[in-house]
Amino acid sequence: MKTFECKVCGHIEFNAAPEKCLVCGALKQAFVEKADAIQKPANPAVLTEADKKHIPQIVIVKECGLIPGGCCTDVHARVGEIEHVMIDKHYIKYLDYYLDYKFISRIWLSPNVCHPAAALHLNANSGKITVIENCNVHGNWMAEASL
Ligand SMILES: [Fe+2]
Repeated sequence: MKTFECKVCGHIEFNAAPEKCLVCGALKQAFVEKADAIQKPANPAVLTEADKKHIPQIVIVKECGLIPGGCCTDVHARVGEIEHVMIDKHYIKYLDYYLDYKFISRIWLSPNVCHPAAALHLNANSGKITVIENCNVHGNWMAEASL
């Protein structure tokens, strides 16, 4: 699948560049196709410590109860299997969430006070969730899960 990156805010879109960036509003011309926009482990069968510190871990909780009587699916994401540091020089800046490869939300994180984690309550109970995290030193890393 093709990936396009916004040169203004770093947001990634799948398949095609949008008319306007859904995060920062930059116009289509700000997007460039970038095959290596998302980092990948050199060997997915044998993850390095760096891989384990950056690949998001996704936990899905059906019907969490916060929204009474409705469909509410929680999608928790933690970075990563080994917890990533959250200090001024090195931290997870944000997590971008997608449902069926359509962007749904960016969650910004601050160093020191935030854990490298986020959650969304979705009004959806099927589809493919993608989470991309951005580390200020090591770039974008991705994970996927089915609702
Ligand atoms: Fe990092």
